[in-house]
Amino acid sequence: MIGTAGNGVRIAITGIGAYAPERVLTNSELATIVDTTDEWIVERTGIRERRIAAPDQAMTDLALPAAQQALEQAGVPADAVDYIVVATVTPDAMFPTTSALLADMLGARDAAAYDLLAGCTGFMYAIAQAYAMVASGLSERALVVGGDILSKIIDWRDRATCVLFGDGAGAVVLERVDHGGFLGFELGADGAGGKHLTLPAGGSRLPASAETVAQEQHFVRMDGREVFKFATRVLVSSAEKVLAECGRSVEDVDVYIPHQANVRIIDHAAKKLGVPRDRVVVNVDRYGNTSSGSIPLALADAAAEGRLEPGSLVLMTGMGAGLTWGSALIEWSALGGKPQQAPERIG
Ligand code: UT7
Repeated sequence: MIGTAGNGVRIAITGIGAYAPERVLTNSELATIVDTTDEWIVERTGIRERRIAAPDQAMTDLALPAAQQALEQAGVPADAVDYIVVATVTPDAMFPTTSALLADMLGARDAAAYDLLAGCTGFMYAIAQAYAMVASGLSERALVVGGDILSKIIDWRDRATCVLFGDGAGAVVLERVDHGGFLGFELGADGAGGKHLTLPAGGSRLPASAETVAQEQHFVRMDGREVFKFATRVLVSSAEKVLAECGRSVEDVDVYIPHQANVRIIDHAAKKLGVPRDRVVVNVDRYGNTSSGSIPLALADAAAEGRLEPGSLVLMTGMGAGLTWGSALIEWSALGGKPQQAPERIG
């Protein structure tokens, strides 16, 4: 699926928030849990440490502070938000949805709220949906959260996966603006490759049972080499497609925010695309792969480092389980906004 923003409608990100749990897990500490070394993890992935949620923290506990920060920066009161989507593969529970619980915690009364599942690409799908909702006029102000607590579905004895992932969440507010905003999106999926990154049990194919638990089928299983090949291919093809569709070239890109899974994947994509390293946002060294949290956390870092100037061309590309991928191209506009009155509600 590919498309450009049209009809003179401009929708932009007006607020960004992020939250990562306090607990830092270093590579050296991991080496006391599984047969690995700091050297191997750094050389093969670029990851040095990751954040791990406390046992009593669930997805809403990460989403709430990120969402509050994004709303505050946008100057949007929670009850002025009419649409909330949380992209995650680790919701508090399958239902009620994390987004509905979050809406209640925020005080976003009567907002439409649902969760979205698209692996690590969830945030990219969610901002495309939120864009379409606001562009169509169905939503006035949308809140999008991307985040995961993969530490709760990882096999901590499997060194091939447990060293890669971390926990975290990011949030953005989408509204109509006068200048800049989203220029286009490209999204896709390849279910034939789905077998390379799975959570086998707990769904309708393999409901939770004593047997699935005994067989440890509630943990993430991944064929790292296959996902690596897929990632290096789609990060490049998806970015090239969205740039071409929007009539822009890679030289125009000021800030490139790829999914933070592995620094080798990021470097490969940047080199193949021709994006200079100083335009690439990298924080996988500090957070590991936070799945749906990866791109909004990197976006928040870029904002905090003053790298998002109004007028800058920002390219984001995600990829992950499904297999899925997605890109967005944005002409950056100023964050923040006038404090807004909550729309009057009846009842
Ligand atoms: O959001 C999407 C999610 N996933 C990804 O993006 C992951 C994509 N894949 C990758 O990033 C890489 O494939 C990995 C980091 C997972 C693995 O790196 P690799 O360079 O492809 O390593 P490999 O799987 O080819 O394994 C090389 C060796 C193996 O040993 P042998 O067979 O050569 O003796 C592994 O057993 O490294 C071994 N190994 C480890 N050694 C120390 C695998 N994991 C570890 C480890 N520490 N943690």
